[in-house]
Amino acid sequence: MKFNVNSVFVFLFIIVTLFSLAIADLSSDRQALLDFAGAVPHRRKLNWTSTTPVCKSWVGITCTQDGTRVFALRLPGVGLVGPIPNNTLGKLDSLNILSLRSNVLTGNLPSDIASLPSLRYLYLQRNNFSGEIPASLSPKLTVLDISFNSFTGKIPHSVQNLTQLTGLNLQNNSLTGPIPNLNSPKLRHLNLSYNHLNGSIPSSLQKFPNSSFVGNSFLCGQPLQPCSVPSPSPSPFSPPAVIPKKQSSKKKLALGAIIAIAVGGSVALFLVALLLVCCFLKKKDNGSNGVSKGKTSGGGRSEKPKEEFGSGVQEPEKNKLVFFEGCSYNFDLEDLLRASAEVLGKGSYGTAYKAVLEESTTVVVKRLKEVVVGKRDFEQQMEIVGRVGQHQNVVPLRAYYYSKDEKLLVYDYYSNGSLSTLLHGNRGAGRTPLDWDSRVKISLGTARGITHVHSMGGPKFTHGNIKSSNVLLNQDLDACVSDFGLTPLMNVPATPSRSAGYRAPEVIETRKHSHKSDVYSFGVLLLEMLTGKAPLMSPGRDDMVDLPRWVQSVVREEWTAEVFDVELMRFQNIEEEMVQMLQIAMACVAKVPDMRPNMDEVVRMIEEIRQSDSENRPSSEENKSKDSNVQTP
Ligand SMILES: *[C@@H]1O[C@H](CO)[C@@H](O)[C@H](O)[C@H]1NC(C)=O
Ligand SMILES: *[C@@H]1O[C@H](CO)[C@@H](O)[C@H](O)[C@H]1NC(C)=O
Ligand SMILES: *[C@@H]1O[C@H](CO)[C@@H](O)[C@H](O)[C@H]1NC(C)=O
Ligand SMILES: *[C@@H]1O[C@H](CO)[C@@H](O)[C@H](O)[C@H]1NC(C)=O
Ligand SMILES: *[C@@H]1O[C@H](CO)[C@@H](O)[C@H](O)[C@H]1NC(C)=O
Ligand SMILES: *[C@@H]1O[C@H](CO)[C@@H](O)[C@H](O)[C@H]1NC(C)=O
Ligand SMILES: *[C@@H]1O[C@H](CO)[C@@H](O)[C@H](O)[C@H]1NC(C)=O
Ligand SMILES: *[C@@H]1O[C@H](CO)[C@@H](O)[C@H](O)[C@H]1NC(C)=O
Repeated sequence: MKFNVNSVFVFLFIIVTLFSLAIADLSSDRQALLDFAGAVPHRRKLNWTSTTPVCKSWVGITCTQDGTRVFALRLPGVGLVGPIPNNTLGKLDSLNILSLRSNVLTGNLPSDIASLPSLRYLYLQRNNFSGEIPASLSPKLTVLDISFNSFTGKIPHSVQNLTQLTGLNLQNNSLTGPIPNLNSPKLRHLNLSYNHLNGSIPSSLQKFPNSSFVGNSFLCGQPLQPCSVPSPSPSPFSPPAVIPKKQSSKKKLALGAIIAIAVGGSVALFLVALLLVCCFLKKKDNGSNGVSKGKTSGGGRSEKPKEEFGSGVQEPEKNKLVFFEGCSYNFDLEDLLRASAEVLGKGSYGTAYKAVLEESTTVVVKRLKEVVVGKRDFEQQMEIVGRVGQHQNVVPLRAYYYSKDEKLLVYDYYSNGSLSTLLHGNRGAGRTPLDWDSRVKISLGTARGITHVHSMGGPKFTHGNIKSSNVLLNQDLDACVSDFGLTPLMNVPATPSRSAGYRAPEVIETRKHSHKSDVYSFGVLLLEMLTGKAPLMSPGRDDMVDLPRWVQSVVREEWTAEVFDVELMRFQNIEEEMVQMLQIAMACVAKVPDMRPNMDEVVRMIEEIRQSDSENRPSSEENKSKDSNVQTP
């Protein structure tokens, strides 16, 4: 069923209706996919069944707009194991995008795949393919990434014919021989490093930085060492095998610029975070044994007199602190006002204080500013917030106080700080990076907390202020979400603040919050956790880039590895999970609210990552059971 037969069929079909033509093509695509799934074991389940519609419900599949052909197949990091048989994916002759990166695929790359007539993007990096690169390549190939495999043999001359090529990544294989004279005018990303290529670098490629070629001991010419003209026989002393990468900027101009912006923005935020942490630590030192009013050691500005949050309390109202049921605190408003207080932080909703009461109870008092609702509405909202706060991943509201001039909320105090300080605080020497398992755990806890807020509060009740500084942590790194349910009470400033980067597009436009806008904010938080970057880069400037857009721009080019926090690079075997998490995050930050998953779906997806954990990650003892899991279809 190759070319001739196909064209005969097509001819016959011209007299048949277009509709049935479409059906026939889609069903052959479906069969090809089922054949593939049947022949290649995979650790994660694919929900591909012949009874469900391919385009609408098969994971990893994108169809053409008219829904008649499979357009893209993306299965990164699903644990595909073994060789891809001929005549499976090679039959998807409308396929434009194929991404099977970060799997455990082996054997030859079937030539029917590489030569698919409409294939434009082929991502097979980080598998263990071997054998030669097929000589016949789709003339439309735009990006070919087969890096980090075990390909051998020469780079086929047919790459010279790829006029559309913008990216060619062949690094970390075992390719030999010379580099063909590539002169694709659009080529912008090239990496041939860490192979066994020899000979001189063709002049058309000399504009690329030396990090595009390093690790090929017998390669010479610009931008590496000049070729020694008389003896073509290479000497092992010629160019050094490992060269510090430095000049890679030329290759990724646009990307470099964006990263620069990102770094610039993050640096500013880190400084702020650092300052906060410094103040916080300083305070902690002299914290619990009571702070006398006049004494200001070190940074006096953070030492607040205890009256600070009580100045608006009127005399006759002193006992109107409203506690919630099940709260074991035993103090009244006067105790609270007598307590020594220190500023924890100033947010868009007001200032938070840490208050240490006489009997060494520590609580957080939040002093709200810009409350725009009356007493009745305030109390009603507090009732819901109090009720919703009963969950292990939610910071409970213990009490509140309302008067004309002063609105106070009392919460439990969490000594381990927030996700924000763990991610961004104290970057630099002496910092312990937050490891991957902790990040997943915190993400899951946060997601569960938000889910609870949504299900308990009802469809109209939102968190409304999800950000990493509102995810607090206890000793065991259990995450608890705080600050929820306050948005309807407040006049939130429109000026760019730290929480601006988390706001969904529709919230920025209409100021209306919904469950789906919480999902968006949570997606930004996941991206922050994955990238280690702040959600808003260079806030206030014209070239301001938000995290979702930056990640999208990087992922679109499939330079996915560039996205992740450099601190995560030291941990082993987590790439699959990071990619999975990235996909969840990207789904959450979809522009259209309806395209975003619900929070409980998000929880389920993160739980799936957790579950696969023990199967996929050889954790010393469980090495043996790993192999049997591999076969599960
Ligand atoms: C398969 O999984 C995808 C993504 O997780 C989901 O959108 C789809 O509804 C699922 N299909 C079925 C039939 O369960
Ligand atoms: C796939 O086809 C190629 C030639 O078209 C052949 O050399 C190879 O052995 C086939 N592979 C398998 C697994 O049948
Ligand atoms: C990749 O495959 C080659 C054989 O083709 C094998 O020698 C090597 O150990 C494999 N590498 C990994 C990481 O599995
Ligand atoms: C490149 O294309 C030309 C014309 O389309 C063809 O004659 C030639 O064989 C191709 N070269 C390779 C190496 O495939
Ligand atoms: C790529 O190859 C170089 C040289 O062998 C090695 O230092 C580097 O760790 C490899 N990268 C990966 C991700 O395997
Ligand atoms: C490259 O290496 C191959 C064998 O590995 C050798 O035959 C060839 O002469 C070398 N070419 C150059 C230019 O060094
Ligand atoms: C090419 O890949 C190597 C190995 O992964 C990397 O060190 C180098 O920076 C890359 N070069 C470019 C230009 O991306
Ligand atoms: C590669 O480029 C860097 C930065 O321009 C330079 O320091 C280094 O010496 C170069 N290495 C070689 C082998 O040319």
